[in-house]
Amino acid sequence: MPPIIAEVDLIRFFGRMHFLFVHLPIGLISAWFLIEVFGRHKDHTDSKVLPIIVWGAAFAALLSVSAGFVLSTREPGYLPEMVSRHRSMALTLTGICLAGAFSVSFKYKRAKAVRRTALAAAMVAMFITGHLGGTITHGQSALSEFAPDVLKPILGGATVVAAPEGSDFAEKVYPILERYCAECHGQGERSGGFNMDTLEAVQLRVQPGDPYRSEIIRMLELPLESDHHMPPDGFDQPSAEEILEIKAWIAGGAD
Ligand code: HEC
Repeated sequence: MPPIIAEVDLIRFFGRMHFLFVHLPIGLISAWFLIEVFGRHKDHTDSKVLPIIVWGAAFAALLSVSAGFVLSTREPGYLPEMVSRHRSMALTLTGICLAGAFSVSFKYKRAKAVRRTALAAAMVAMFITGHLGGTITHGQSALSEFAPDVLKPILGGATVVAAPEGSDFAEKVYPILERYCAECHGQGERSGGFNMDTLEAVQLRVQPGDPYRSEIIRMLELPLESDHHMPPDGFDQPSAEEILEIKAWIAGGAD
């Protein structure tokens, strides 16, 4: 047997470089911040370094956006609405960096105020863009999962389920939904209009007493390649035992 060698695909290779490129604008915007803070008493309008850094950030942002665009169109499995939010913020960030780059390239009145406003905006946009990007690849609760309780609400993705403690739903069913569905349907996320944060919302998608007429079970048991199969192809799938656990809860009245 010939050795298995992955085919060369330069376009997808460029797309995957997104994960590497995104660190460039982060580093360059941070450098811009450091120069601004530690060079406070100097006049940056004469700086030779600053335009290089800020134009560099703008081009690095453009490069990351291009690779990200290729990645999202060539690789299946990323959730469109999460990608689209991340993309909008990334484009905003790129625009801010470009504006910043022009603002450091010319001499004019109030240059400092304009430049600093651009920097502040770039930093905010950078954090939001980075967070939205991280959420696509690592899931909603990646940061909060093992965080101290006081930090969970700040970091997002904390477990809040409005079900009586000790109920079968809270003990058996919710943990399964949380593991396989929460990323797209939990903590305020509502892909396809379905949010699983409350017992009532989940009950609306089942037929108490009749697992096989329950939307959730039907979707779980559709063929993997069906567009309506949940969780979508490419995401962690619950085991037969876990599906049985949900069926048992529905059969028992879904309360
Ligand atoms: C990776 C993201 C993702 C995961 C994980 C996921 N879903 Fe979905 N879900 C979607 C998207 C996108 C839609 C809307 C498109 C559709 O209906 O196929 C959707 C739609 C739904 C709907 C609404 C269908 C409708 O038309 O009203 C239900 C119910 C649902 N999912 C249940 C689940 C359950 C149960 C799980 C976990 C076992 C799960 N999903 C896991 C992305 C996801």
